[in-house]
Amino acid sequence: MECMSEATKMGFATRAIHDGQAPDELTGAVNVPVYLTSTYKQDGIGKTRGGHEYARLTNPTRDGLEESLCSLEGGTSAHCFGSGMAAITALCTMMKTGDHVVCTENVYGGTSRLFNQVLVNYGLTFTYVDTRDADTVAQAIRPETKLVHIETPTNPMMSLTDIRAVSEAAHANGVEVSVDNTFLSPYLQRPIELGADIVMHSTTKFLNGHSDGLGGVLVGTKPEHAERFRFVQKCTGGILSPFDSYLLLRGVKTLAVRMKQHDANGRAVAQWLIERFGPEKVFYPGLKTHPQHELAKRQQKGFGSMLAFELGSLEAANAFVSKLKLCYFAESLGGVETLVCHPATMTHAAVGTEGRKKLGITDGLIRVSVGIEDVEDIIGDMEQALEGSE
Ligand SMILES: Cc1ncc(COP(=O)(O)O)c(C=O)c1O
Repeated sequence: MECMSEATKMGFATRAIHDGQAPDELTGAVNVPVYLTSTYKQDGIGKTRGGHEYARLTNPTRDGLEESLCSLEGGTSAHCFGSGMAAITALCTMMKTGDHVVCTENVYGGTSRLFNQVLVNYGLTFTYVDTRDADTVAQAIRPETKLVHIETPTNPMMSLTDIRAVSEAAHANGVEVSVDNTFLSPYLQRPIELGADIVMHSTTKFLNGHSDGLGGVLVGTKPEHAERFRFVQKCTGGILSPFDSYLLLRGVKTLAVRMKQHDANGRAVAQWLIERFGPEKVFYPGLKTHPQHELAKRQQKGFGSMLAFELGSLEAANAFVSKLKLCYFAESLGGVETLVCHPATMTHAAVGTEGRKKLGITDGLIRVSVGIEDVEDIIGDMEQALEGSE
């Protein structure tokens, strides 16, 4: 929906709790009710109550959530979908046969799988470039390019794209920029303030924060984004359910405090890893040794809790993940619990051996989404799991 909030001048944590979440008109309930309904009684022909006709089009729980996410990212509209992948699919319906997309080469494996194995069949073309360099992006733009899609930081190598520089390069060529902001959340990075046109999230991750619901969102900045994404929700139906919308609203209320703790724990774990393995084996933009540390300081409000490190071999990686007790070896990220994954066989399996080699994703690479447990316990668990696996 289009953002209606009047409280957008408040601070981030305040907006996360209040925007889109005014007490219920009927009862004063301080949480947005879960509207479990597929349809709405109408009071006569053309007489809907508050414009509600059918739940694929609007649902008050989802409306509240969209208002909230729109406010947090600083856009003018937000539209929620059943997963992050459903949101990216909706984003790509802005294009038609013959259109071209420039995309970060180190993008989430599911995104490149959607592009390469589904959307190419509908006549869209994709060029993957190293978006760390805005000139490379500019050079990849063609007359038929409609979108530059970037992910920063990237999954799992934690390289960054300068959102402002890439947005300027794209806009100079009349091309829009979308940013997958999943890894940092709007608490730590707000791409629209840096010039991006559309922000996309897998809300499954930090926005939800509790590993209990899938979701995705597109936050737009122009009336045509609102019109398009509303229409796509209506036509394709891949919307977020009322209950998942409620879970996400509940998660978002604590986003600010969670992200502060994720950031603090991420920094501590990265520092411990660097002391153990040395700077060339740890990938975290918060480290002074990270080649884009200055950019991270400039465009992010913290460094977050996603990091990767190199254990040297598949055997060492397997020994490590098998011995973890507190941290979970599992897909996904952004939950309150520490989640460890093996990109080569999990998130980036679909990229193939050659693709992974090009991106630097080795069989010994481990990705960590550092949770908000006591950091000594996280480090203690990783330490015991490393014994004998190096
Ligand atoms: C950066 C990023 N974008 C998009 C997605 C896809 O989101 P979902 O799993 O909610 O469909 C993921 C999933 O891991 C992701 O990490």
